[in-house]
Amino acid sequence: MTDFNLKEYIEERRALVDAYLRGYFSKPFRPLPLYESLTYSLFAGGKRLRPLLAISAFEACGGSAEEILPQASAIELIHTYSLIHDDLPAMDDDDLRRGKPTNHKVFGEAIAILAGDALLTEAFYMFTEGDVFSPANLKRALRILASASGALGMVGGQAEDILSENKEPDEETLEFIHLHKTSALIRASVTVSPVLKGESEEKITAMEQYGKNIGLAFQIVDDILDIIGDEKRLGKKTGADQQKGKMTYPALYGIENSKAKAKKLVDEAIEQLSVFGQKAIALKEIARYIINRME
Ligand code: IPE
Ligand code: IPE
Ligand code: MG
Ligand code: MG
Ligand code: MG
Repeated sequence: MTDFNLKEYIEERRALVDAYLRGYFSKPFRPLPLYESLTYSLFAGGKRLRPLLAISAFEACGGSAEEILPQASAIELIHTYSLIHDDLPAMDDDDLRRGKPTNHKVFGEAIAILAGDALLTEAFYMFTEGDVFSPANLKRALRILASASGALGMVGGQAEDILSENKEPDEETLEFIHLHKTSALIRASVTVSPVLKGESEEKITAMEQYGKNIGLAFQIVDDILDIIGDEKRLGKKTGADQQKGKMTYPALYGIENSKAKAKKLVDEAIEQLSVFGQKAIALKEIARYIINRME
């Protein structure tokens, strides 16, 4: 397995997710602007990191990508909704996302808000597609995803992020924001897989820890790239965090210390994977890819 090719691995699975999502939303519905708005953001060219993580985690448990496609893809709907709302004038007020004008710039605020609402709701419909999994495992996975997305997860983190603008950064608040607004959904993306597969509690906990760590690392890297990244490659404007007085890792620790923190988190995440043996090679490589983005 030393000849593992991450690029190919990612491309193959990304194509599966895109094909699933394209098929799912192939039929336009009324009102057309709502359909156009949500498909505009969904197919604007995201990295598909969260579905990819769900698939890789599922494969590390001995499953195949095809079996978990509805659940993995559903997570991308939640993520995309969070981006549409995150960009709204009342939130981060951004003009560029995934290399294109933000949703509200094209469709107006009302339709952008509703497209986000629709994506979030549809996600839970999509998540229950098919009958590959036992009802008990599906119920547990659904509850993990719902909790990670809501007030005690991503939404709570987004609220704290907004409430903390222009405040003196402190370690505890900063960690709360990042663990909730970003890490929670990434953690859920990998945790649902061993849960759906009916794996041991030991494996579920290990996966959860892996997800928590790479999720936090991912947001630290996002903060770093907002300062040193390339707008074209990122598909979003840089320098936005400082302008909005956001509480970020580089604002509190500086760039070099933030890089070191992200690297340490990824090392710790990879250690958690030992219980999965060789089958976790993709998860290891994806963890490394997350920090390689900042080099
Ligand atoms: C951006 O997420 C928002 C954060 C949580 C940092 P991604 O960097 O995964 O965005 P896409 O999906 O590739 O557009
Ligand atoms: C967003 O964090 C986290 C979400 C839940 C969307 P950011 O506000 O830093 O994400 P970007 O930089 O706009 O993608
Ligand atoms: Mg934000
Ligand atoms: Mg933002
Ligand atoms: Mg950011």
